[in-house]
Amino acid sequence: MQIIINHVAISTRQGDITAWQGDMIVNASNSGLFGGGGVDGAIHRAGGPQIAEACAEIRHKQGGILPGEAAVTNAGNLPFLGIIHTVGPIWKGGAAGEAAILAKCYSSSLEAACRRGAVSVAFPNISTGVYNFPKVLACQTALNSVIEYIKERDSGGLPLKRIEFICYEKDNAQLYEEMLHGFA
Ligand code: APR
Repeated sequence: MQIIINHVAISTRQGDITAWQGDMIVNASNSGLFGGGGVDGAIHRAGGPQIAEACAEIRHKQGGILPGEAAVTNAGNLPFLGIIHTVGPIWKGGAAGEAAILAKCYSSSLEAACRRGAVSVAFPNISTGVYNFPKVLACQTALNSVIEYIKERDSGGLPLKRIEFICYEKDNAQLYEEMLHGFA
């Protein structure tokens, strides 16, 4: 499923983000940028120790990153321009600003991608694993945040031309298909 907004193609696919083909991928990391499990573990395993070394440098320089923020490292052995590490909110019931923080993860990551001149970027379903964010609300938040980001900017000035949501799990893949249809 693909929609086009302001000359930017937004699409979704089920798969492993480390096997994606494009400029930059986003990692669902933690505030200390310590490699973990889930998509974080998959990216560090596939990319090798150079990514963890770059994460450690950021940790030593600025003490990590806050939920909603993004930081870029090299991609190690992976064929990307870089990895955008962001930290999603831990779901605590919804009254702790979780949706706003999740929305910020997507906009900060797009900001970081644009700063590096990325033409294409892939997102995992941030916070919907270990951090337990409800999947329907996460999908709505992700799509709204990305679409708002593109609409608010002059597309002629954006390097970005392709944004893809890579869903590892079938239920997320179906959700993204359905919700993207709603924007078509
Ligand atoms: N490609 C794409 N998506 C993946 C992959 C992969 N290879 N592996 C897992 N996922 C999906 C999960 O199915 C889930 O939908 O990524 C989504 C996010 O799940 P987590 O990786 O658990 O991330 P999150 O919920 O944001 O929790 C972050 O987990 O791994 C640790 O260091 C990380 O502490 C941080 C926390």
